[in-house]
Amino acid sequence: MSVVPVIFNNTVLRDGHQSLAATRMSTSQIATVAPELDTVGFGALETWGGATIDSGLRFLSEFPFDRLDAVKKLAPKTPHMMLLRGQNIVQYTNFPDDVVEAFVTTSARHGMDIFRVFDALNDLRNIETAVRAVKKAGKHAQGVVCYTTSPVHTPEMLIELGTQIEAIGCDSICIKDMAGLLPPNIAFQIVRGLKTRVKIPIVVHTHETAGFGAAAYYAAIEAGVDSVDTSISPFANGTGQPDTWRMLQALTGHPRRPSYDLAKLSHLREELTRIYAELAAFTSPRNEVVDNDVLIYQVPGGMLSNFRNQLKEQKMGDRFVEVMREMPYVRECLGWIPLVTPTSQIVGVQAMLNVKFGRWKSFSPEAMKVALGYYGKTPGPIDPEVLALAEKLSGKPRFVGRPADMLEPRMPKLRAELAQKGLPSDDEHCVIYAMFPQELEKLFKAREAKAAAPAPVAIAPAAPAAAPVAAPTVAATQPVIKVPSRPPLVIPGTSKKISHLALTIGGKRHDVLVEELA
Ligand code: CO
Repeated sequence: MSVVPVIFNNTVLRDGHQSLAATRMSTSQIATVAPELDTVGFGALETWGGATIDSGLRFLSEFPFDRLDAVKKLAPKTPHMMLLRGQNIVQYTNFPDDVVEAFVTTSARHGMDIFRVFDALNDLRNIETAVRAVKKAGKHAQGVVCYTTSPVHTPEMLIELGTQIEAIGCDSICIKDMAGLLPPNIAFQIVRGLKTRVKIPIVVHTHETAGFGAAAYYAAIEAGVDSVDTSISPFANGTGQPDTWRMLQALTGHPRRPSYDLAKLSHLREELTRIYAELAAFTSPRNEVVDNDVLIYQVPGGMLSNFRNQLKEQKMGDRFVEVMREMPYVRECLGWIPLVTPTSQIVGVQAMLNVKFGRWKSFSPEAMKVALGYYGKTPGPIDPEVLALAEKLSGKPRFVGRPADMLEPRMPKLRAELAQKGLPSDDEHCVIYAMFPQELEKLFKAREAKAAAPAPVAIAPAAPAAAPVAAPTVAATQPVIKVPSRPPLVIPGTSKKISHLALTIGGKRHDVLVEELA
């Protein structure tokens, strides 16, 4: 057994808050912990990608590349890692190669170091373009084996997939268990098998949802895994990654136990506890516990809670168990596709339709696309009757090529559209606009409205913001600022303080509430 210490990558700035706080950690909150995270000596900091781009843009009015610039500046020493959904980039549909390439090149230019690239079907043709672009940009391409449970996803099959990932030129392999279903002994078998067959480093990524994430890591470490992903409590455990401190303690006496400063981890935990409290509206005790339902239904934990709500909306709340039992049947018919966004949703909806109307009486358009090969090659064969039905209903034969080959280049068109709307048309804006057109336009409208507001607010010496927002415009008349009339109001359960200020601009009084940044 190797006695080289195992490396911990830290996920708190991406998967940690994506799994436990609806991806709502803002750049200013990140700014309070990133510099210290940078000094711990983690193998990598996962800071971007996954749902952070969508959520930051949609809910926090942050332009995604501003987040990347800010966090890179705050944590310049540790390599930064992002999660990329192959040809889907960070969305749920396929994008043409030129958009994927531009996204990777631009992200690399803004400092992204490690690109963890996956495809929901494990069809490597869907990650090849991104991997090639990463290599061309001189960065680290990490190819992913999505772990799932099914009769075709044997350890041997997953090991074989790992060897193909090495063959297409990836620098490392990630065994990604997005649902937290990887049993320790299977983790051991896959890592041991890969270690004898590939030369590149291996990472295991799991979630503590079913309660054996730390045990799976322990087994992987015994088998010689190079690194594992951990987070920091309270953005750890439950539906998140195992906590760093807990994992270190679990390795007490183990020759591969790494050494990280416990005092720093302790301080980071305090800071993160404060942020967790600020995000109370987006956290839930349900996500913080070990969930046996995940083991019973073998679907990602996040999907279960969403799905219960969807069934209620469809007035099928009492048919949850029936729908869950239908899921393995739908998966089998659709070639045992792994359950990860977006395929988890596709299987779930079709299972619901089957229970409601009878099997395949109503064929969802997305499930039909899977059957017809538009998402790529499925791990197992499509059920012949289901395929025949899909071909008949759609009037199209099954597509066997690489899905992105059906798509025309789009960058010139995106550039022209943005220019026509009077928006910046650089690559950064083009790639974000390709994925989130409405959200990007909304962001600019909100910024315009802000710029047109009566006064530039240059008030109180507040803590410097991490990411500069739009530059304030210079006012014609200097505002007269009165000092706060009352002490700042502290919002219960958070560290936020709000002060009331009265501004007099051009003789007119404006009442302003100022939120203090912690
Ligand atoms: Co994850």
